[in-house]
Amino acid sequence: MIDLSTSYMGLDLKNPLIVASCGLTKSLRGVQKCAEAGAGAIVLKSLFEEQIAAEVDELTRHVDSVGHTESFEYLHGYGEALGPREYLQLVGDAKKTVDVPIIASINCITDQRWADYAKRLAAAGADALEINIGFLPHAAELSGSDVEDRYTSILYAVRTQVDLPVALKVGPYISNFAHLAERLGIDRVAGPAFSVGWCGPGETEKEITWQGADALVLFNRFYNFDIDVDTLQLAGGNPYSTSADIHVPLRWISLLAGRVSCDLAAATGIHDGWDAVKQLLAGATTVQVCSTLYRNGLGQMGLILEQLREWMQEHDFALLSDFRGQLSQVRSEHPGDYERLQYIKALVGME
Ligand SMILES: Cc1cc2nc3c(=O)[nH]c(=O)nc-3n(C[C@H](O)[C@H](O)[C@H](O)COP(=O)(O)O)c2cc1C
Repeated sequence: MIDLSTSYMGLDLKNPLIVASCGLTKSLRGVQKCAEAGAGAIVLKSLFEEQIAAEVDELTRHVDSVGHTESFEYLHGYGEALGPREYLQLVGDAKKTVDVPIIASINCITDQRWADYAKRLAAAGADALEINIGFLPHAAELSGSDVEDRYTSILYAVRTQVDLPVALKVGPYISNFAHLAERLGIDRVAGPAFSVGWCGPGETEKEITWQGADALVLFNRFYNFDIDVDTLQLAGGNPYSTSADIHVPLRWISLLAGRVSCDLAAATGIHDGWDAVKQLLAGATTVQVCSTLYRNGLGQMGLILEQLREWMQEHDFALLSDFRGQLSQVRSEHPGDYERLQYIKALVGME
């Protein structure tokens, strides 16, 4: 008897397949369909601070903002409450309607917003939060450690405001991901050795401890940048991944599994049951899917779960824990194989 159930950030999932944050999870109907199709958990479409700011701008466009009049302040505050209102409603409705864990997702820019929206989403009934950090460190004056501090500071801001499990979803553009992952994913983090903006009065000087992330989601696949050579304009690249995109997250899951104490959710390039098996063997706690559902429909989830079950049967595994992390670096007798980057004939058989 195959049992696909798993724990993820302390939540009980009937299987490890999670619908990633995307347009398919932006409405109650979408959430219902994902649940009916067999999802183990659902991450709602992100609530973007930029989107809220745009709504607020629209609301206050006709008000004279010179000197920040009282009516401007009122409308501004009202607009901010209005912006996420529909999102909070979705969280509440989804919780009432489906019986799989609902993970709310936020993407903020300004520091104070992260904690503020995290609190509101927790109050709306979300089972967990996924913090979607999209940060392109392109400024020359920004050092690698400044970038790491930014991630840690955001996690700290949310962590210290809500009691919910918190997952951190990041992109792969980080100088030394192992170092950052350790800072973010360990149980107790001494700090803050970073921006003190989130410390309470008197906390700036003292050593405080706080809990790291409950999970890291590796990796987000960001909006692709491209150029149209006919129109000489910027253009968006293909929004959807293929199985060929699995390799970067697969390597990092296998390098980090067993080394950070938080859960690891694999994301990007998981299109079929074998992609899911690979990530679980590497050490993923759960796998997130998005592009394959856009390409093949929600029925693909049933197929992925069936392929996973068949593979487990073939290999005599009854539980995910029977094989999870079996091919992680920490359990390997040849750890160097996980760090190989170059085509050297004697080592990889081609040049
Ligand atoms: C149309 C679309 C919308 C997305 N919206 C979000 C979003 O709001 N928040 C987020 O964290 N990721 C978002 N993503 C990224 C996905 O959640 C996922 O991490 C990424 O597509 C990689 O997974 P995949 O290879 O299975 O597609 C979106 C992706 C697509 C294609």
